[in-house]
Amino acid sequence: IKAAPFKGKPKKADSIPDGSGGFLTLSEKKLFLGQKLTVMQGDLVKSSADAIVHPTNSSFYFGGEVGQAIQRAGGKEFQQEVDVLKGQGSIGTAEAAICPGHKFAAKFVIHVNSPTWSETNAQQNLDKAVKNVLKLADDKSLKTSICPAHHIPAKFVIHCNGPTWKMDNAQILLDKSIKSCLQLADEKNLKSVAIPSLGSGRAGFPKQTAAQIILASIRDYFKTAKSSSLKQIFFVLYDAESVNVYTTELARLDN
Ligand code: APR
Repeated sequence: IKAAPFKGKPKKADSIPDGSGGFLTLSEKKLFLGQKLTVMQGDLVKSSADAIVHPTNSSFYFGGEVGQAIQRAGGKEFQQEVDVLKGQGSIGTAEAAICPGHKFAAKFVIHVNSPTWSETNAQQNLDKAVKNVLKLADDKSLKTSICPAHHIPAKFVIHCNGPTWKMDNAQILLDKSIKSCLQLADEKNLKSVAIPSLGSGRAGFPKQTAAQIILASIRDYFKTAKSSSLKQIFFVLYDAESVNVYTTELARLDN
């Protein structure tokens, strides 16, 4: 799927963009408080939402894919805004900071210290457990977790201390990061925010894992919020894999 070329749009105060500014609308859904969640394909930097989200680290690093695009577009003026923010300190884990935008349609940029993906402990331990079972089956001299079987056809039972699944830290932090962005947008009384596929570029999350977490976070945020200034949430996707994954995940998302 290819996004239509961006034709340019003047910046309007508190406007709710209709998504026609060169973006391809893929899917739409109403959320708990009546917000519209729209999945679109296009360049985040060209979004005319009130704020665009920049996934970064604690020190406003622009090394991510979105970061590079925002930095290129914003130029010197935008860098100065970021320097002012930097002077106020670093961003806490899964927390967000906001500054004005320059030279692009969005009025603000929300910087979020979002996590990078690492294999979960449970996944690593499952891998180890299977290898230990195979090693034990190979190595007859190891007796600690193998015993003879009775009343079943197998000769032996291998007892394996396998892991239990719990959400990994990185996944919990991605959920928190999304909620921090929405909360900050609410504090600033914004009406619309455009979020990229946080975590699934430089940070290495599998696209589908990121999609599931982000969509659930947005849904849950509005379920628990008593009120919100936000009326429109955009997912601005770039690559074909994200587009496929998000469209599928959005269809699955229950209100
Ligand atoms: N518009 C919209 N989406 C884009 C654009 C763009 N112009 N360019 C890239 N993307 C997509 C990528 O394809 C990816 O799916 O945005 C998603 C997020 O990519 P990144 O910006 O790399 O974000 P992330 O994976 O969270 O990595 C950020 O990089 O700044 C460092 O260490 C820092 O943790 C931070 C990490």
